[in-house]
Amino acid sequence: MSTQGMILAGCDGDRTWRLQDYVARGGYAALRRIVSEKISQDTIIGELKTSVLRGRGGAGFPTGLKWSFMPRSFPGDKYLACNSDEGEPGTFKDRDILRYNPHSVIEGMAIAAYAMGAARGYNYIHGEIFEVYQRFEEALAEARTAGLIGQNILGSDFSFELFAHHGYGAYICGEETALLESIEGKKGQPRFKPPFPASYGLYGKPTTINNTETFASVPFIMNMGGEAFLNLGKPNNGGMKLFSVSGHVNRPGNYEIPLGTPFSELLEMAGGMRGGRKLKAVIPGGSSAPVVPGSVMMDCTMDYDSISKAGSMLGSGAVIVMDETTCMVKALSSVCPTSTSRSPAVECTPCRRYRLALSRGSRIENGLGRPTISTC
Ligand SMILES: Cc1cc2nc3c(=O)[nH]c(=O)nc-3n(C[C@H](O)[C@H](O)[C@H](O)COP(=O)(O)O)c2cc1C
Repeated sequence: MSTQGMILAGCDGDRTWRLQDYVARGGYAALRRIVSEKISQDTIIGELKTSVLRGRGGAGFPTGLKWSFMPRSFPGDKYLACNSDEGEPGTFKDRDILRYNPHSVIEGMAIAAYAMGAARGYNYIHGEIFEVYQRFEEALAEARTAGLIGQNILGSDFSFELFAHHGYGAYICGEETALLESIEGKKGQPRFKPPFPASYGLYGKPTTINNTETFASVPFIMNMGGEAFLNLGKPNNGGMKLFSVSGHVNRPGNYEIPLGTPFSELLEMAGGMRGGRKLKAVIPGGSSAPVVPGSVMMDCTMDYDSISKAGSMLGSGAVIVMDETTCMVKALSSVCPTSTSRSPAVECTPCRRYRLALSRGSRIENGLGRPTISTC
């Protein structure tokens, strides 16, 4: 794990997940200031908008704008959900945030709850990484004991209850409305939209869903200010981002770098190409993002706009590197079955279509391919 950057900076000690360590790194200063100075909801959301923090879960939607969709004067409960499902093949950053810096997520969610007037929150954690779930529970217990979560936070009139929710290991549960269904105890399948979660979310109440890394970035923005966060990255792509680099590199792992960093630098940080081989192709944003030829990727910077211009998506930040020996047909069939044939994603129509397309991939690999004009 790389320990430079922002969220994971200083997280190379033995007990970095403990409350005491987080506070020593400046943790909970933002929440304390917000609550004691009674900073207005508009100011917080305004700071988020200035920062141009874009959702780190995949779509890159501006977080400040999303928060402003939460109805202010709704009379009943409003909810927050943190998406720590992280089922996309190639992505392994959120589990490291929860492993090494869970309090940054708790503080980020508390600030979000204050800014949107939400009374309750759930962190939906990937079902196959139980030790991360336990660690988050331990951090939550510490935060509750210290009066940072629960009734009358830090002696104020602001209350927010936060719970961990154990996911079920299905990729589709990472889709935000399937995740809400799953928290409600139903089968994790997407809802039709509209209505969107901001008006009809968990238990039919207004709900905001953000990714783990998105929430973890919030305390840093409130501490340094939106403008400074934006300037860490590049216009329209504020801040730093975690990239999970895997594949044919010498040092696979999570690297937290400013958005706008050239891909060639990220590759260098990851130790360069394994065995000194040539770069053939990269999947820059998780296995559902289009493949980019290596030569095109070497001219890209790691941010939403540059990768989109190259015809792909920054997505969740899972960078899968493939060298010249890679068979692209085989790569296709090895990347996709995890999210299609072996998980409840087979019940999702687009995924079923991909599965049909994939059966073609294995035909080609076995020398049985034939020209066709249809798409499925
Ligand atoms: C099939 C599918 C799986 C998804 N899996 C995840 C996931 O594991 N984690 C995540 O944060 N977002 C995932 N998303 C995106 C979420 O639906 C949602 O956009 C995101 O959690 C919003 O948070 P953000 O704005 O902070 O990015 C997935 C979307 C789809 C369609």
